[in-house]
Amino acid sequence: MSNEQLAEVPAIELRNVTIELAQVTILKDVNLKVGRGDVIVLIGPSGAGKTVLLKTMAGLFHPTVGQVFCDGADLSEMSRALKHDLARRVGVQFQLNAIFDARSVYENIEFVLNEHTSMNQAERHERIMECLTAVGLEKYRDFHEYEISGGMRRRLAIARAIALKPELLFLDDPTAGQDPVNADILAELILKLRNEIKATLVVITPDIMRAYQFAGRIVFVADQGIVETGNAEQTEKHPDPRVQQFIHGYLRGPLTDGRDT
Ligand SMILES: Nc1ncnc2c1ncn2[C@@H]1O[C@H](COP(=O)(O)OP(=O)(O)OP(=O)(O)O)[C@@H](O)[C@H]1O
Ligand SMILES: [Mg+2]
Repeated sequence: MSNEQLAEVPAIELRNVTIELAQVTILKDVNLKVGRGDVIVLIGPSGAGKTVLLKTMAGLFHPTVGQVFCDGADLSEMSRALKHDLARRVGVQFQLNAIFDARSVYENIEFVLNEHTSMNQAERHERIMECLTAVGLEKYRDFHEYEISGGMRRRLAIARAIALKPELLFLDDPTAGQDPVNADILAELILKLRNEIKATLVVITPDIMRAYQFAGRIVFVADQGIVETGNAEQTEKHPDPRVQQFIHGYLRGPLTDGRDT
């Protein structure tokens, strides 16, 4: 595909995607197109399927029904070689961080660069320190996972996700575990990095104010489906009562019907 043709094709597209896990339908008939450079913010109740949706968009979960396309190519039909090439262009920060506990902070990032680049040692070192400095972890380079705090682990996971300057960046609740000041700094940093590397960003946050800060396009996940609610202003006024309950944190409403509150 030429560059002009590629510009017309969504970076990611979900077409009629249904996902069942352990015989339970988590998402049903989801359609979503993500353009190059879009910022998509996934919000919605805990357990609704935000992480499952993000992993599906990142090609880590395979739909039971339907297709996921990346740059117009069906992920289920991609060769191993193409998948490896794609992995080079994708950065993911997992909700549970997935830090290698036998490796130091420094080595966690080095591993990714070794796996996917042919940088020499000096180039690698420079990139690792750049990433660690970006998230304020440069002084902790020789520490291991058990020696750093929860918020620091999160920042390491983000540093690792951006190490390859990915075209597609997936962040699952990146500001979790940060104090309010650091959370703000981190959110700003993510947006700045995204602009620098012109990445398409898919980010989950349980915090509606944070969602407004990131957005972009806000996508509400609930009841096995998604509702695109628009930007911050449009989401505030969105007519779906589930969205209204979620953004205002009302105890009673469709999201908690039948629950003993
Ligand atoms: N690997 C798996 N096997 C079976 N079920 C799974 C698996 N991963 C997730 N689920 C189920 O999918 C549903 C959605 O989970 P998911 O982690 O996507 O929720 P979430 O919206 O990210 O919630 P939270 O805001 O708490 O992170 C849950 O019911 C969960 O039990
Ligand atoms: Mg989750």
